Amino acid sequence: MSSKPPHRMLHLAEIDSTNADAMRRAGSGECGPLWIVAERQTHGRGRSGRNWQSLPGNLHASLLFVPGAAVSTLHQLSLLAGVAVHDALGDVLIPPAPALRLKWPNDCLIGAEKIGGVLVETTTWAGTMVAVIGIGINCAHAPEIDGRRATALIQHGCLASPREVLHRLALHMDRRLCNWQAGAGFAQLRDDWLARGGPVGERLAINAGTERIEGFFAGLDRQGALLLHDDHGALRRLTYGDVTILETRLSGADRP
Ligand code: BTN
Repeated sequence: MSSKPPHRMLHLAEIDSTNADAMRRAGSGECGPLWIVAERQTHGRGRSGRNWQSLPGNLHASLLFVPGAAVSTLHQLSLLAGVAVHDALGDVLIPPAPALRLKWPNDCLIGAEKIGGVLVETTTWAGTMVAVIGIGINCAHAPEIDGRRATALIQHGCLASPREVLHRLALHMDRRLCNWQAGAGFAQLRDDWLARGGPVGERLAINAGTERIEGFFAGLDRQGALLLHDDHGALRRLTYGDVTILETRLSGADRP
């Protein structure tokens, strides 16, 4: 793997949101690949319309590019970015690495606390689909958002700067996107996600907008949807939702 970041990078001191900025640029014909990085966001965006607190010392970055993939595969970019975040944090954390893991679709946690989040947005310009993958990583600060527990690299003895983390992240994102092959390589990515996610049998609650479902994690299907054995005995396939981990039923030996 080359150590030179593979794509153009635009560093900004302050912006409303790197995702919003990338979407504006996409609307003016920018096709990337381009990383937009800001020291501070005044209106950082999180999933499900939430705010993302963006303090200097944390990483706020968005990759704008043309995925060249069918619309039906674009949700896989969320899983891909989560795996790349996990890999980048694995590179910078000091061994013995703390319990770094993914929570579907793309939250990166240490133990039960969130260290990074991903927000994927898409738009179309002149008939071309453009994707923006926004990534926030808590390097120096751990803002609690909506009562959700958070942590930061510094709390685990890691002093890596946002720039250093971005450097690792950009390399992993590039490699993962190459291997994904616009969806044709998703089977390997799915396996890599499962190796970094919680164990099959973990008890989860899913807020899927109109309903809350509780059950046991049963893996991911071939498209990347979450599979859940619900409490009524049905196997549910979920493509959207906010997941809360309730408890882990099985040991690490039962991981897929
Ligand atoms: C989540 O809710 O977990 C997703 C958070 C994504 C935050 C990042 S920070 C960089 C990029 N710009 C934004 O406005 N949001 C994403």
